[in-house]
Amino acid sequence: MLRRARLHSVQCLSTYGRAQTIFRMQHTALAEKRVIVSGIQPTGVPHLGNYLGALKSWVELQNTAQPQDELYFFIVGLHALTVPQNPKTLFADRQNLMAALLAIGVDPLRCTLFQQDAVPEHAELMWYFACITSFGRLERMTTWKSKLATLHNGGNTDHVQASQLQLGLFAYPVLQAADILLYHPTHVPVGEDQAQHLELTRDIAEGFNRMVKKRYFPTPSTLHTPSKKILSLRNPAVKMSKSAPDANSRILLTDSPKNIQAKVRRAVTDADRFLSYDPEARPGVSNLINILSALDGGTLRRELGTTVLDTDPARLAETLHTATGGSGAKLKAILSESLIEALRPIQERYHDLLQDPTYLATIEKRGAERARERAHTTISQVRTMLGLQKETL
Ligand code: TRP
Repeated sequence: MLRRARLHSVQCLSTYGRAQTIFRMQHTALAEKRVIVSGIQPTGVPHLGNYLGALKSWVELQNTAQPQDELYFFIVGLHALTVPQNPKTLFADRQNLMAALLAIGVDPLRCTLFQQDAVPEHAELMWYFACITSFGRLERMTTWKSKLATLHNGGNTDHVQASQLQLGLFAYPVLQAADILLYHPTHVPVGEDQAQHLELTRDIAEGFNRMVKKRYFPTPSTLHTPSKKILSLRNPAVKMSKSAPDANSRILLTDSPKNIQAKVRRAVTDADRFLSYDPEARPGVSNLINILSALDGGTLRRELGTTVLDTDPARLAETLHTATGGSGAKLKAILSESLIEALRPIQERYHDLLQDPTYLATIEKRGAERARERAHTTISQVRTMLGLQKETL
């Protein structure tokens, strides 16, 4: 195959210089098939931080993928169980998140989109990985350490704290490694806070490979997609989060236009009477400009009466300053309008999808079936390598 390809490109060289370039490009693309894998926790309706920070990048990866690339995206119900859950709420959260992913444009025909908990191979592979991962390695994970620190602040002694916490929470990163490696990915798009989990994933892959004396699992790269870090509207020193007590600190993808306007109006900025992008000195205003720059910009272009728009935040701040005379109130009005417009089609699709639980269930079932096909191959090979079954493949 390769040989024929080279011959072909040599023939082209003499006569069709241009054709050869195209051929070469296709050839490179073929050689670099990417397998993209990522998961998200079902923590209720996504907020703007989730959307602009992570979910939108899934859609962008999907839309820019080459035909030979594969994408696996899933909702991690098993990880959600590491903290106490109300079954009804968890079920609704999983389903709502599936609807939200479809609503923002994840295409279930292009991507393998599924509920992780519907693919039991994740839990099985986790067990095999748990058997080659040391306690010490997991004790060094920052998520675990911060959990211990939280307990510590509650005044517990060391001994009591560790024994109170659940095994599932401790082993969470091992499950994540299984989620990832099950599909032999090349790339895993995640936020910065997941870097350590990805490092562990690569170490587990290498540890497994050493054990079976074969380069079986890949060591996938962390893909830091150019996504936005969106801050709390009430306290721009911290990220926008689902758990902040003040609901005005976040905008949900399902917020009504009235709600959006009220929340944006209350957003904390500063007393300066001009607009500039300076995340250090002016986190509040800069956050609003950042959100605007991450939206698609149709409304903004209309508001500003222009067809071209530089959405680099610093240059956008200058444009906005000129257009509004430096008014923070006008900036907020423009932002509200842009958000309402950007979220409207997403909200319509979201509500339509939730009206049709049978359709959602079909999508989930198909996704899980496709994922299981791939997962089954991995698990079968792993079982053979570990001595749990005879060679079958
Ligand atoms: N731990 C991730 C988070 O909290 C969620 C997650 C679970 C994940 N499994 C994954 C992310 C696999 C990427 C790949 O955001």
